[in-house]
Amino acid sequence: MEYYFITGTSKGIGKALTEAILQNDNTYVYGISRNCAVKHARYHHLHFDLSDTTALRNNLHKVFVPLKEAERIVLVNNAGVLGKIDYIGSQATDNFEFVFDVNVIGPAILMNTFLSAYYSQQCPKIILNISSGAGKRPMDGWSAYCASKAALDMLSLTCQKEQELLGTGVKVYSLAPGVVDTAMQAHIREAESDQFSELERFKLLKENKELLDPEAVGKKILQLLKQPQQYSSVLMRVDEI
Ligand SMILES: NC(=O)c1ccc[n+]([C@@H]2O[C@H](COP(=O)([O-])OP(=O)(O)OC[C@H]3O[C@@H](n4cnc5c(N)ncnc54)[C@H](OP(=O)(O)O)[C@@H]3O)[C@@H](O)[C@H]2O)c1
Repeated sequence: MEYYFITGTSKGIGKALTEAILQNDNTYVYGISRNCAVKHARYHHLHFDLSDTTALRNNLHKVFVPLKEAERIVLVNNAGVLGKIDYIGSQATDNFEFVFDVNVIGPAILMNTFLSAYYSQQCPKIILNISSGAGKRPMDGWSAYCASKAALDMLSLTCQKEQELLGTGVKVYSLAPGVVDTAMQAHIREAESDQFSELERFKLLKENKELLDPEAVGKKILQLLKQPQQYSSVLMRVDEI
């Protein structure tokens, strides 16, 4: 059996990826998010709020359970939040903590525990973090999000370097999924124009049907997970798959 731990399975890219994975009989998915929207015999949901890092830390034993005869074990840190779109100087300060907890601290805790829990398991292991192009270029109004995705990229690069030095064979990726038609994009379009100078461009992407379909993106991500030997770079974009 191939085991997948995926955060943010209740909607968007995470739900689409989960459904694509479950089409193969040889798979089992542990989904992590506040809401459950997937019903399947080979799906188990774990209700966690990743912004509550104390509760997450105290319940990790419920996530990374012993996996006998695993053929492959995969962690996908997909859950993410943009937070409040606003300029630094006029934000509620707890926005920074909230965005970093969900986008960086939660994934770091899960990566750390995943690697230690399955250290002695000999099967192929993959960590895939869902990042963003916003981690590579500044977007006004999105400071916490941009900084958090840059941090996620560096967490992934460091983790891959460590696994290579250790000779474990674990593969780590940080994937920018493109601009995808999900609730996150709807949230972006609700911003005020004085909080986000690219608002009109994002509205036009939707109007002109230029957003990527989450199901198509889920299938692309699965392609990467199935053939990691074809992709040597840690930082990836979906159009490179
Ligand atoms: N859509 C895009 O254009 C785009 C572009 C670049 C990068 N990304 C990245 O792609 C990933 C998926 O985004 P998406 O567009 O699919 O977003 P989405 O439709 O808003 O879904 C976000 C998922 O994350 C989960 N989540 C959010 N806050 C959480 C929390 N506090 N605790 C646990 N789970 C939480 C949500 O579940 P619950 O609400 O049930 O908790 C949901 O399943 C994110 O990391 C995002 O940054 C998206």
